[in-house]
Amino acid sequence: MATLPTIEDFDDPTYDPFKAEEGVFGELADIHEHLERLRAEKGDVVEGSFMSLMGFDWPSDRPTYTLLSYQDVSDTFFDPQTFTNECFQHTLGLTFGRTLSAMDAPEHTRYRRLFQKAFLPQNIARWGDEIVEVVVQDLIAKFRRRGTADLVQEFTKLYPFEIIYRQLALPEGDGPVFHKLAAAQNLVYTPEGLEAGRKLGVYFQALVEERRKRPQDDLASLLINAEVDGEKLPEDVIVSFLRQLINAAGDTTFRGTSVLLTGLLTNPDQLEALRADRSLLPQAIEEGLRWESPVNWTERTAARDVEIGGVTVPAGSTIVAVLTAANCDERVFKDGAKFDIFRQKTRPPVIFAFGPHMCVGQHLAKLEVTRAMNALLDGLPNLRLDPDMPPPVIQGAMLRYPKHLYVKFD
Ligand code: HEM
Repeated sequence: MATLPTIEDFDDPTYDPFKAEEGVFGELADIHEHLERLRAEKGDVVEGSFMSLMGFDWPSDRPTYTLLSYQDVSDTFFDPQTFTNECFQHTLGLTFGRTLSAMDAPEHTRYRRLFQKAFLPQNIARWGDEIVEVVVQDLIAKFRRRGTADLVQEFTKLYPFEIIYRQLALPEGDGPVFHKLAAAQNLVYTPEGLEAGRKLGVYFQALVEERRKRPQDDLASLLINAEVDGEKLPEDVIVSFLRQLINAAGDTTFRGTSVLLTGLLTNPDQLEALRADRSLLPQAIEEGLRWESPVNWTERTAARDVEIGGVTVPAGSTIVAVLTAANCDERVFKDGAKFDIFRQKTRPPVIFAFGPHMCVGQHLAKLEVTRAMNALLDGLPNLRLDPDMPPPVIQGAMLRYPKHLYVKFD
């Protein structure tokens, strides 16, 4: 018999972290134009945080430099000795705790090997058949007969989160509260952010204890039992990972699928080519994630004085690596602001980062998007934008997506 406690909502259950998040992360559209102007006016390495440069009130107690070129952003990820993840201990670490994102070697290297064991190809393939396919088909069945849908509100915004609830075999009803608390964790400097981190900590500690006693066929049990060279993951590291899952796996995949669909639906010839030839799907997914990187920027700490693009950056500075800027750097991606699944690329786009922190869930993410796209293309014939509804607008200064994607199908 399960002894899981019920997940505890906010003390004020009317608190809406999704609204608060919009306020903090902004509604910035036309990001390519903003980035182009910034690069033209100030160069590749700009003093200040990306958010403050975009006009947001974004206080920082350290010198901060924003990197806009493909070369500098990639170099940063490949040099973890100079550019460490220490910065996350003072930001997301406050609510998430000891996640991989907030660790550096040697601790990061040891724990990362253990997490990789849970994301082995055979586990991902099984989740694909048993969870992802079921979730995407169930969601599409709800609107298929209608002939119209808002693909963001009725599909992309739901499916990655439902997958996570099922991967964790959460009790019915706990998922949405988990999602709500997890969203608030991004608001690290608010009392609700701290409350959310605390409550999810209590909940997942109990879940880990329960799964330890009675293992199930779920992700938490996989993590508990993962072992490399006699070492296992400490409980607080598992709990922190589970706390981060909605944000790392759900928010990203939801946005990645939304921007890919936007690129395809606003370029119907490319959508048609993809519908006719599904072998184009991997390059279409990569192009969507390059064109509008769901993770617009991430951070590192300069561990020593370092020169980047001719600018001397003092030790202890925060470095903001802007993935969208790197991926639309004209020196590497010609007409970078254009969505083109047939684009010839000489360098890989910076989608899942590079180096030791490169996304541990990237293969799962690609599988989820692949299954979702195939299900939509197969299940919704003649999928097209609804001409009677407003067109999609990709917005946001941190995690970007279109709030609506109104479509029609036969
Ligand atoms: C389209 C979907 C996704 C995108 C665009 C994405 C992007 C990224 C990026 C850019 C990073 C590196 C951040 C940095 O170094 O600062 C990262 C790390 C990470 N991602 Fe993903 N991600 C996606 C899906 C997933 C999924 C499905 C999972 C599932 C568990 C996941 C788990 C993680 C974790 C745990 C890290 C930290 C890895 C480390 O620090 O060693 N992500 N992701």
